[in-house]
Amino acid sequence: MHSLANSLRKRLYSVLASPCKAQKQWGRPYWQECAGFRDISCLSCPKFDERREECSVPFGTPIRKCVVASIEAHLHDAKGISALELGFGRFSLGKKLIERSGGIWTGVEPHQPKEKRPQIGQGCYGHTASIPFADQTFDLVFGIQTFEHWGQKCAGAAREASSYKKCLDEVLRVLKPGGSIYFDAPIHLHGHEMFIMGDIPRILSYFPVQSWCNLKQERWRYHYHPLERFVPCASHFVEWREEISSYSKEEVEKITTEPIWLFSISAEKCAA
Ligand SMILES: C[S@@+](CC[C@H](N)C(=O)[O-])C[C@H]1O[C@@H](n2cnc3c(N)ncnc32)[C@H](O)[C@@H]1O
Repeated sequence: MHSLANSLRKRLYSVLASPCKAQKQWGRPYWQECAGFRDISCLSCPKFDERREECSVPFGTPIRKCVVASIEAHLHDAKGISALELGFGRFSLGKKLIERSGGIWTGVEPHQPKEKRPQIGQGCYGHTASIPFADQTFDLVFGIQTFEHWGQKCAGAAREASSYKKCLDEVLRVLKPGGSIYFDAPIHLHGHEMFIMGDIPRILSYFPVQSWCNLKQERWRYHYHPLERFVPCASHFVEWREEISSYSKEEVEKITTEPIWLFSISAEKCAA
């Protein structure tokens, strides 16, 4: 998936990404309500190409295709909004859509050089447990495929594992009252053990109702038919052994054959 052709397709896709096109595709309900989730099955996803029986996102793993779709669904209308992206990495489709739809994008990333000082409208060094901006600065805080890594034990050289409580307190602090969040993360793939295990109640416990309202959770690719089943492989299991400590062997065994899906959460900071 990291071939030159794949990265060229990704670049071209982001050059052509358009808020108007996204509004046409995602501006109406694109989910089915099911057991408290908004389910986006592959078959009824606006990105499904019926004629070819494939996903029309032309690059990435099956989960990255869902990530692209979800970004377009959630971040295409940012007129007049100041948005902060946590863990933007090297490529941000969210940034393109936010700026093209009239918003201001700012980013924080632990792999940026420490000299990159915080500045609105720029990408800078920083991480979620200590966001380098003042209280009530942003209308929107979002993170693409980063949420699952904040509390990961094997966090890498750039930072230490953080507490989710501390991270989400920081997110609340920099959000304006009524401001919103959007985070997505793969389930049964990698990261902190609660994401590997798909322990949704544990993830949701970090979003108490006193602080967050209008909480919505989505499941992308939970129903993957007629597309392929996408499952974890041996290299993931090595990481799982290091990350998972609070679940029994039997519980872990059970999920080794479960298909990977994308979880997304959006909510608003309660006004008072
Ligand atoms: C899988 S990459 C995703 C990058 C990018 N958002 C994307 O979708 O391509 C995860 C990113 O999260 C960042 N990250 C990890 N822990 C973080 C933290 N505590 N706060 C902010 N970013 C973090 C990593 O440095 C990395 O760039």
